[in-house]
Amino acid sequence: MDILLSGSVAYDYLMTFPGHFHEQILPERLKNISLSFLVDSMTRQRGGIAPNIAYTLALLGEKPRLFATVGEDFGEYRAWLEQHGIDTTWAKVIPGKFTASFFATTDKVNAQIASFYPGAMADAALLSLHDLDRRPDLVVISPTAPDAMRKHAAECRALGIPYLFDPSQQVLRLEGAELAEDMNGARFLFCNDYEFGLISKKTGLALQDMLKMVEVIVITKGAEGAVIYADGQEVVVPVVPEERIVDPTGVGDAFRGGFLAAYARGWDWRLCGQVGSLAAVYVLEQNGTQNHYYTRQQFVERFRRNYDDGGKLDELLRD
Ligand SMILES: Nc1ncnc2c1ncn2[C@@H]1O[C@H](COP(=O)(O)OP(=O)(O)OP(=O)(O)O)[C@@H](O)[C@H]1O
Ligand SMILES: [Mg+2]
Repeated sequence: MDILLSGSVAYDYLMTFPGHFHEQILPERLKNISLSFLVDSMTRQRGGIAPNIAYTLALLGEKPRLFATVGEDFGEYRAWLEQHGIDTTWAKVIPGKFTASFFATTDKVNAQIASFYPGAMADAALLSLHDLDRRPDLVVISPTAPDAMRKHAAECRALGIPYLFDPSQQVLRLEGAELAEDMNGARFLFCNDYEFGLISKKTGLALQDMLKMVEVIVITKGAEGAVIYADGQEVVVPVVPEERIVDPTGVGDAFRGGFLAAYARGWDWRLCGQVGSLAAVYVLEQNGTQNHYYTRQQFVERFRRNYDDGGKLDELLRD
């Protein structure tokens, strides 16, 4: 299945300060605050929603395509993604700009001071689905520049391409009417339970109203698992117990990647949710959003210790 992913692409620069921010802040001098923290570690992690989802899809044997704008500093990241089986032809470089970058410094008690520079991501709406040479089977619309999300959803409707609407973090930036418009006609709506509450409040729509607008609604609930509403049914998917919790960032993205890898093979909703849940738990057990790794053999073995696939997952081992 040809899955095209519209969403942010970013580098995360993560630093740690071996002290307490609050001890360095003088409340009476807040107006001209001027601080520089000598940090003792820095890593640059590959991030962004579109490559996060793509990475899991690729681990499970799909060949997803990125559809995003990136900066001149993307070369190394592109090579790494290509090496892992992701098609980056449509990761377009914006001359003179950096890839979106998140700079965060965390102190000893996990207090954080951060900045997000959108860089090339701000130009995502320059891309148009009309320019594709090959029509995808499914477009995933994940958080990126809000104007691009709106444009790509409208293009999917105009071109009759099925799409998955994943507003996540950008629920905050989109108006109720905008959310309702882009939800209407989508094949899937994915969100976590907090975002579901916000969407419902902003649009004034209850679950039953939304199910008249979207074919499938998937709500993830962290450690409580996920629920899938489809074909008039409600499928509850329990989590896979984690071996350790290191860093929850990116679990939602991996869930989507796993779910879609199963959907691409035509598996039933329960299996889609279970594959998503297992894909998610691997991210929880590592730092970063693309630092985990498993072979399909390892994935299937762990799956079978938690769920029953009736032999279906053998397919993952064949190609
Ligand atoms: N503690 C946990 N143990 C096992 N699985 C988990 C845990 N937390 C999350 N998951 C899995 O990940 C899925 C998505 O989690 P969650 O609902 O927290 O996503 P999210 O809020 O969108 O996360 P993020 O935006 O940080 O990626 C859950 O449905 C579940 O399958
Ligand atoms: Mg999320």
